Amino acid sequence: MLQGKRLILRPLTEADVTDQYIAWLNDPEVNRFLETRFERHDAATVARFVRDKMDSPTDHLFGMFLDHGQRHIGNIKLGPVNVHHATAPISLFIGNKTAWGKGYAQEAIALVTRFGFMDKGLHKLEAGCYEHNQGSRRAFEKCGFLVEGTLKSHRVSEGERTDVILLGLTRDRWVSTHATDS
Ligand SMILES: CC(C)(COP(=O)(O)OP(=O)(O)OC[C@H]1O[C@@H](n2cnc3c(N)ncnc32)[C@H](O)[C@@H]1OP(=O)(O)O)[C@@H](O)C(=O)NCCC(=O)NCCS
Repeated sequence: MLQGKRLILRPLTEADVTDQYIAWLNDPEVNRFLETRFERHDAATVARFVRDKMDSPTDHLFGMFLDHGQRHIGNIKLGPVNVHHATAPISLFIGNKTAWGKGYAQEAIALVTRFGFMDKGLHKLEAGCYEHNQGSRRAFEKCGFLVEGTLKSHRVSEGERTDVILLGLTRDRWVSTHATDS
């Protein structure tokens, strides 16, 4: 379990697969920038996803919880860890739209970044977001991630081709700039 100022992050289990969680994944406003939007989600598909991640030695799927761990607002994942290169991607979504814009993404990214570097001994973390997903990009940048590149015309979003921004954070940079933030 990872404890932040307001958030608790804990490994997600099948008991967390509620109607609310399934509805988030099928909500076009929530999944607008997520690759998961191409599938319809139900209790069986989401439970299978959570089970797969629980069983995986290289994935760490956390739920983000408010109110002392009582209120689930979204998920954040570290993985799959590349053990040869000591790297891993971070991805996240906040399903509860009333929780957007309150700094929870930044808090969750900071906690998982610490977990990746300190607990998993990783050397570098990565993330990617659609060019116009300003919230995601800003949240990663505020945790120390730097834009490292652009995949031009890489995805289709709302009928238009869009670039994907690649972000990265090395352990050395994190130690010297952001390690005391979380
Ligand atoms: C994108 C998302 C993770 C951002 O989470 P959040 O908790 O609202 O973000 P934060 O409150 O931590 O904001 C971080 C920064 O981004 C800015 N920001 C947040 N949403 C924004 C938006 N829609 N447009 C522009 N800036 C935005 C915030 O103002 C803040 O910057 P500041 O401190 O300089 O003001 C959340 O909206 C979400 O889960 N959306 C749906 C799924 C998704 O897009 N996931 C990411 C896939 S890459």
